[in-house]
Amino acid sequence: MLTQKSDLDGCFLTDKHRMVQSNDGSFTAYSAEFDEHYHSTKDGALLESLQKHVIPALLHVKDKEEISILDICFGLGFNTLATLYYMKKEGIQKRLTIYSPEFDKELIASLKYFVYPEIFLEFKKIIDAVSETGMYRDESLHISLYLGDAREFLRDCNHQFDIVYQDAFSPASNPILWTKEYFADIARVMKEDGILTTYSISLATRLALHVSGFYIYLCKPEGCRSSTLASFKELNGYERVNMEHKIFCNQKAKPLSDSEI
Ligand SMILES: C[S@@+](CC[C@H](N)C(=O)[O-])C[C@H]1O[C@@H](n2cnc3c(N)ncnc32)[C@H](O)[C@@H]1O
Repeated sequence: MLTQKSDLDGCFLTDKHRMVQSNDGSFTAYSAEFDEHYHSTKDGALLESLQKHVIPALLHVKDKEEISILDICFGLGFNTLATLYYMKKEGIQKRLTIYSPEFDKELIASLKYFVYPEIFLEFKKIIDAVSETGMYRDESLHISLYLGDAREFLRDCNHQFDIVYQDAFSPASNPILWTKEYFADIARVMKEDGILTTYSISLATRLALHVSGFYIYLCKPEGCRSSTLASFKELNGYERVNMEHKIFCNQKAKPLSDSEI
């Protein structure tokens, strides 16, 4: 299933990252800086990306001819690449724009050496372009990385997105990308009929989304642990989380806030 690891992983290694194989066979990375893996090693990097983010999001936008995605943050680029893979596999033809902030320039430069799942190999040209220049463009696809801070990117962003992949490191290790102020900025750059996907099911995350005007839904992806979907409009086919009831039962619970970090 995978490309040969032996001749490549020495090149990917940086002071801050090392490659780790996850349970579905795909490789992810461990970040020494955040003391965390880039994906759930238990669910598997590829499976997590497809099941928690790409499949529910693309189902939601199936009737659109053109879609715009905010991929937070780019990291190893699984969510972007799994989107391309899934669209191709399912014969989904749309014009696609992906914006993705990522402040780790060393990581981006080393992506061309990362050992991706075999199903991503057809996107090697795209991976190399993004790794070398931070962007890729052809007639139907535009990928643009913002090599800096995601909060800064959001403050200056005047684009409107159909899909947000909220895939930062955990709230415990990277709280600045999970606060109510952060999600208020996310809400500002999302279309009225947009969808946000995230692996986090914590009450604090859901509260931060809730106070920013989102409805919260439980997603039960195939072969993975549960995840969260959020939108401004009702989503069919998912169980809505009753936030008023959660708040009533957990009166001390509160969302993360910028002022407390
Ligand atoms: C969990 S990983 C992203 C996983 C990614 N979706 C993938 O498929 O590999 C989180 C990423 O966020 C980046 N990051 C953390 N804080 C950031 C910030 N404030 N601005 C931009 N990037 C940030 C880290 O460098 C890391 O690459």
